[in-house]
Parts: sequence; structure tokens; C-alpha cells
Amino acid sequence: MKVAISCDHAAFALKEAIRAHLEERGIQYHDFGIYAADEKRDYPYASLYACRAIQSGECDRGIVLCGTGVGVSMAANKLAGIRAACCSDSFSAKYTRAHNDANVLCMGERVVGAGLACQLADLFLDTPFEGGRHARRVEQIAALERGELE
Ligand code: RB5
Repeated sequence: MKVAISCDHAAFALKEAIRAHLEERGIQYHDFGIYAADEKRDYPYASLYACRAIQSGECDRGIVLCGTGVGVSMAANKLAGIRAACCSDSFSAKYTRAHNDANVLCMGERVVGAGLACQLADLFLDTPFEGGRHARRVEQIAALERGELE
């Protein structure tokens, strides 16, 4: 598994904590920046760069961060094939994988501490999609994206 990580200027410290955590776990990642605490980036670009890597197949999952996690999730969900979930609790981080087959986890540096964020990242990365009846609903999301859900 390879993870795309990315953030805006409100979440650089959290992105660095997630990066260190992935390193510690030996999980491959591509860091799409930002790369310094004084660098500025609007959150839609954080979503765009990480999600493009998922769309191209370079990465399997994304962890995208901003101040609240909300902006990056809104932007990410505009992109085809992206199912982004903004989470700040462990139940959601687990079940957005199990039931929604989420491929992007969004979190906010101003909402969750680094310890909790790393736990949520672990749940997101380690929980398999359950499939079955949930696969039908995920396919309905794809149909909605194509304008085919009636
Ligand atoms: C940036 O100040 C902030 O608005 C952004 O990181 C995010 O919280 C938006 O949803």
C-alpha cells in the first residue's frame, strides 16, 4: 500500500506527525507537501495533488489535512473516484473503510491532536472494505458521480 499525504498551511505540523508515523510503520508514502511551516497553500490544492495520485494509480489511499479537515474533504469529493471522509473519531475512521470504501481520510489539525490523528490513520489504513451490501451502495455513489443515479 502507498499513501498520498498532503496538507495546506493550517496542517503542516499534523502532516509531519502523520509522515513520521507512516515512516515508523514502514508504510510507503508520497508526500505532496507543503514542505515547510512558512509555506502557504490553499486547501483545494492539497486535495488535488494527493487525489490525482490516487486517480492515476500511483497511490492507493490518501490522508489529506487542513485546519478543520472539512475544506480538504469537500474539495477531494469533487474529484472522480474519490471517496473522502472527514473524521475525528475512531468509529467513523473504521467504518468509512468498512462500509464506504473511503480512499481518502481527511482530518483537521485544529480539531484532532497528533496522537489521535495517528490512531485514526491506522484504523483507516488497516480496516478492509466489507463489500457485500456495502458494495452496492458504493456503486450508487459512482453512479451519482456519473449523473446516472435516478
Ligand atoms: C485555513 O485557514 C483554513 O480555512 C483551512 O485549513 C480549512 O480549515 C478549511 O476548511
